[in-house]
Amino acid sequence: MAIRKIVQQGDPVLRKRSFEVTDFGAKTHQLIDDMRDTLIKAEGAGLAAVQVGVLRRIFIVMVDEGYFEFVNPEIIKTQGTQDGAEGCLSVQGKYGQVQRPKKVTIKAQDRFGKPFKLVAEDFFARAICHENDHLDGILYIDKATSIEVSEN
Ligand code: CO
Repeated sequence: MAIRKIVQQGDPVLRKRSFEVTDFGAKTHQLIDDMRDTLIKAEGAGLAAVQVGVLRRIFIVMVDEGYFEFVNPEIIKTQGTQDGAEGCLSVQGKYGQVQRPKKVTIKAQDRFGKPFKLVAEDFFARAICHENDHLDGILYIDKATSIEVSEN
């Protein structure tokens, strides 16, 4: 387990499309464990593999509902909309207002390759949409209606 460096806005890797995961072995598990440690240390709600410089379709989310790992995710249904504030560990010192779906249905694989499906609402849905965008090189600042500088 290790803390990895979080890539910051301006690094071109954040704009690349991540590749599908085909290895569900030790190397991928190590990556995900490191991502979890890194997310906890950074006190964030979610982290995509590209944010630690690895172009693989993996993200993790840590919200009130629990801790979740998504490998090769695909949002298959969205319902409604919500407006709210959003930040990103790769865009430090800022937050912005972003419209997201109120509810999403996502299918993905776990770290062993086993498929699952999950329905998320409210902030959990927001976090999933934000992280899923990272896999396609999209940052929340691309979608924000306003951006503000935060205190911390
Ligand atoms: Co982010």
